[in-house]
Amino acid sequence: MKNKMPQYDFTDRTAIITGAASGIGREIAQQLAIADANIVVADIVSARNKVVENINNGGGNAIGVEVDVSDHLSVENMVATGEKHFERIDIFIHCAGIGIEKPFLETSLEEWNRAINIDLTGTFLCGRAVAHAMTKNNWGRIINLASTAGVRGGYNRAAYGAAKGGVISLSKVMALELAPYGITVNALAPGAIETEMVSKMHTPETRKIYTDAIPAARYGSPSETAAAALFLASEQASYINGHILAVDGGFLAAGLMKKNEK
Ligand SMILES: NC(=O)c1ccc[n+]([C@@H]2O[C@H](COP(=O)([O-])OP(=O)(O)OC[C@H]3O[C@@H](n4cnc5c(N)ncnc54)[C@H](O)[C@@H]3O)[C@@H](O)[C@H]2O)c1
Repeated sequence: MKNKMPQYDFTDRTAIITGAASGIGREIAQQLAIADANIVVADIVSARNKVVENINNGGGNAIGVEVDVSDHLSVENMVATGEKHFERIDIFIHCAGIGIEKPFLETSLEEWNRAINIDLTGTFLCGRAVAHAMTKNNWGRIINLASTAGVRGGYNRAAYGAAKGGVISLSKVMALELAPYGITVNALAPGAIETEMVSKMHTPETRKIYTDAIPAARYGSPSETAAAALFLASEQASYINGHILAVDGGFLAAGLMKKNEK
């Protein structure tokens, strides 16, 4: 018998994806919809509506919700809207975030607070609200978007790196405390992924520094990141909890890079 690639089936599962108007979140929303999940496309920008339209035109089942992940009432509304429309929340993938690149000595308190509020407090507020919904069903998958910048020190990443390091610690605590409710909590630590966020931030010079430091010698794609998220969201990942999965072309594994010729 021929081996088949594993197929994920998310029929009757409802997934909320924050930051789903763009980049990694949009790709995850689209791939989960193809695998038959009901989708809540949550984002602060109205481009979320286009993602909803694309999913529904392709035969999927999606609604859009405006959310500011750093505002607790807005987050409560996102979860309540998802539950009201689809009756339950099974999967939560937290992709909403902002990237800040600023030398430590030049980072203002406003920039620091903005990164912490959106990237870290947003993860806390969303995780807490969705976990309350998931405990009702004794099943859940939470996947937070951390970053390699939360694992290793990166130049100019004081605020962003501290926020993402916090996301990693928070994900581990959530994993322990939510395990009795059948909820797993894992995080992805992407390296350089070709998205709108990166195209705004990376100059040609930055791109060369990154590709020189990545064993794969290239940026990753949103679909390569989504593949990891779908696996962690699947039934098959039931015994994976509290894990930080790097999607980084080997960046975190590397020390001094002296590439050997093939
Ligand atoms: N692209 C990368 O290389 C990379 C690397 C490591 C980690 N990440 C992380 O992955 C996640 C997704 O990144 P991306 O590259 O797809 O970025 P992106 O900018 O393409 O998408 C981020 C989305 O988050 C939304 N958002 C921002 N602030 C929000 C708020 N307060 N409330 C609700 N939505 C908000 C934006 O509107 C946007 O649609 C982020 O958490 C980012 O830090 C990305």
